[in-house]
Amino acid sequence: MSLRSFLFVPGDSEKKLAKGAGAGADALILDLEDSVAPARKALARDMVRDYLAAPRSGTPELWVRVNPLADGGLDDLVCVVRAAPDGIVVPKVDGPADLVRVGHFLDALEKRDGIGKEIRLLPVATETPRAPFGLAHYHDTPLPRLYGLTWGAEDLSTALGASTNRDPEGRWAFTYRMVRSHCLLAAKACGVAAIETLYADFRDDAGLRADCVEASREGFTGRIAIHPDQVASINEAFSPSQAEIAHAERVVGVFSASPGIGVVGLDGKMLDIPHLRQAEQVLARAAAIAARRGTPV
Ligand code: COA
Ligand code: MG
Repeated sequence: MSLRSFLFVPGDSEKKLAKGAGAGADALILDLEDSVAPARKALARDMVRDYLAAPRSGTPELWVRVNPLADGGLDDLVCVVRAAPDGIVVPKVDGPADLVRVGHFLDALEKRDGIGKEIRLLPVATETPRAPFGLAHYHDTPLPRLYGLTWGAEDLSTALGASTNRDPEGRWAFTYRMVRSHCLLAAKACGVAAIETLYADFRDDAGLRADCVEASREGFTGRIAIHPDQVASINEAFSPSQAEIAHAERVVGVFSASPGIGVVGLDGKMLDIPHLRQAEQVLARAAAIAARRGTPV
C-alpha cells in the first residue's frame, strides 16, 4: 500500500507519455478513457501497449485506465494485458460485481499471454449514481486483485445532472463529501489503499498541499495527479514525516519495554493499544515507501 502518487497521462499523447516517467510519480495511469477523444481511442490503445512493452526500470509502476466494460473496456484489456501493466484502473463501476467480471477477463488474458504476475485493480468507485450503494459490498466480495479504491466527483455530477459539485464556499457539496467518506470507509473495511481524487487546479500548489495533508490525516494513503508539477507535493504529503516516524518509534519502543502491558504513559499522555497499532502503521508505511525507493527509512 505504498503508492502515494498516480499521475494520469493521456494515452494518445506522445509528448506526455515521454515526460511522464520522469515526473517522480510512484505510478502512472496511462489513460484510454476520458482524456482521449473517441476518434483516437484505437490509436491510444496501441500507443499504450507499445509504451508498456518498451524496456523499463520498474519505476514508476505502469497502470492503465481502460474504458467502461460496456464501452470498449474489454477491447482495451485484450490489447494491453499482453504488455503486462502493473494494474488496471476501472472507471464508472456500479459496484464490486463489475470488478469480479474484470477479474475473470484478466484470469483468461493473463493465461493467454503467459503473464507471470497478478495484475491489480483500482476502481473509480463513485462515478455512477448506483456506485455509492455498491461501496458496502466490496468487503463481502472476494477480490484478490483489489489494490485500493478511489473516487471521482466529475462523472457523478454529470450523471446527476448537477450544475456543480461544489458548495457556495467552494468545498465539495454534501453528496460528494458523503461518497468520499464512504469510499474511504469501504477501502479500510477491505484493508486496501484509499486513494484521494484529483485536485483540478494544477497551478495551485499551496491549495493542493493543504488538501493532501487533510486527506492524509483522514487516512487516505495516496492521491491522483493530473500534472507533473503536482507529484512532489503529493509524495511529500503521503509520506510519514521524520517527526511522525520518530514519534512512532518511541511509541513502539515504550510498549516493547513493557511487554504484556496494554496501557502506558509517554510525555504525559496515555497510550493504549490503538496508539500502538497506529504507530506500527506509520512505520510499516515508511518502510514500504523506503523499500520502493531502495533506501533505508
Ligand atoms: N503527464 C505528462 N506530461 C504532462 C502532463 C501529464 N499529465 N501534463 C502536462 N504535461 C507536460 C506538458 O506536455 C508540458 O510538456 P513540455 O514542457 O514538454 O511542453 C509540461 O508538462 C507542462 O505542461 P503545461 O503547459 O503546464 O500543461 P498543459 O496545458 O500542456 O496541460 C493538462 C494541462 C491538464 C491538459 C495536462 O496536464 C493533462 O493532460 N493532464 C492529464 C489529464 C488526464 O489524463 N485526465 C484524465 C484523468 S481526470
Ligand atoms: Mg471520468
